[in-house]
Amino acid sequence: MGAATVPPQKILNLQLGWPSPRLCARQGLLDGAQAALAGGNDMSPILLYGPHQGHPPLRESLAHWLTDVYEPTAGSVTPDRLCITNGASGNLANILLKFTDPSYTRNVFMVEPTYFLACPIFEDCGFSGKLRGVPEDASDGIDLDYLRRQLELAEIGARASCERRGVADEPIAKRGPNYSHIYKYVVYCVPTYSNPSGCTYTLRLRERLVALAREYDALVVSDDVYDFLSWPEDPASERDAVTKPPPRLVDIDRSMPGCMELGNCVSNGSFSKIVGPGVRVGWSECTAAFATQLSEVGSSSSGGAPSHLASTLVDLMLRSQWLQRHISDTLIPIYKERYYALISSIKSQLIPQGYVIEAKNIASDASLSSAGGFFTYLRLPRGLPSAKVLAAIALKEHALRIAFGHMFIVAGDRGSLQRAEEPQGFARCIRLCWAWHEVEGIKEAIERLAAVTADVQARVQRGEDIGAGASIGIR
Ligand SMILES: Cc1ncc(COP(=O)(O)O)c(C=O)c1O
Repeated sequence: MGAATVPPQKILNLQLGWPSPRLCARQGLLDGAQAALAGGNDMSPILLYGPHQGHPPLRESLAHWLTDVYEPTAGSVTPDRLCITNGASGNLANILLKFTDPSYTRNVFMVEPTYFLACPIFEDCGFSGKLRGVPEDASDGIDLDYLRRQLELAEIGARASCERRGVADEPIAKRGPNYSHIYKYVVYCVPTYSNPSGCTYTLRLRERLVALAREYDALVVSDDVYDFLSWPEDPASERDAVTKPPPRLVDIDRSMPGCMELGNCVSNGSFSKIVGPGVRVGWSECTAAFATQLSEVGSSSSGGAPSHLASTLVDLMLRSQWLQRHISDTLIPIYKERYYALISSIKSQLIPQGYVIEAKNIASDASLSSAGGFFTYLRLPRGLPSAKVLAAIALKEHALRIAFGHMFIVAGDRGSLQRAEEPQGFARCIRLCWAWHEVEGIKEAIERLAAVTADVQARVQRGEDIGAGASIGIR
């Protein structure tokens, strides 16, 4: 017999932005499926092609629920403002297909650090080389002065290019009755409990962003996928804390005078984080005109509403209040407990090592003290190599997966890479997710992170070249 070998450690994964399987809405789906499919011959509406804008009962129950959750000052959410989708990812592609034309739409501005999996969606829709990062800033959420300067420059460039070529400044590929409006710009952001930074933008920032979008004919696509998972930031102030984030961008666009018929903001919602990603049902909320046109995207004209059968199950979950109870009685208590455990471990083990919590969950213009979503975001201690190197060592030597700053660079934008690699750039940040592991796994993962950090700090002090040989893939 050979020498006893140490069993390999099970990998702990604080990178994965997935809900633990036990939190997915299995029972609600099962009940819904039984009720929905028990209708004998009367099931044709749910087993055939769905209306392009989505299952009407879901648009109705969703409108009620969104009204309850967001309490929009401009009035109730109405079904004509909603278009059912197959989730936020697929819907982003559909929005781009219907309302942008890479021959005319000058740039896509992505708030950085960015949700990196959105980049290939933009690239698939023709925007390779046209993606630009816009830095988050510490006060309000986004550096809007930077965005304004970039918009001005892009406008000047676009006009000069048309003059040089002697062509009109208008869409080339997408014209005619199927495309009533092609936007000049897209701004992509996650304004509440952002992925990856945890940032929540202030009301002031949101209002200024909507005004800027109107000024430059930009469409703001707001991934509002974490809005429903919200709790007090501080366990001690549990009872008095205000946990409602500022209004959505789409609500601000609706309530600010001068909203154009198609609007300048679309809320990209999803049931992935509250039912389960496999359900593939989401929604767009936007003006009624935008919703109608989005529902006529080619794939829905041919195939009917996306995720039609699954959307009937989600409707039944909303109607019976099953989903609302699942969120308030299961998801929020469990995620909240994990969040508190994670933050407490970070405070006791990582802060003394020099880590800083960067997640800006507190909107500075309101008495808001909420946390939520799936992620927190840390800056590495001084003297450590980049987060990418730390992540590679953590995975190889400590069986720990963490998401690192280089993942969140806007694809193809050299400026974004440069900003990431500046001394105070986000290449020195990591994103940690509390949605996948239970409390015990989270605590152990932070112990491993503290161990790998201490190990790397010691190697740096000894003058070892630790960057060499430490590599890890971005995806
Ligand atoms: C910001 C953001 N947008 C979109 C998605 C994907 O949403 P969906 O599953 O609805 O496609 C995620 C999932 O991690 C996300 O974090």
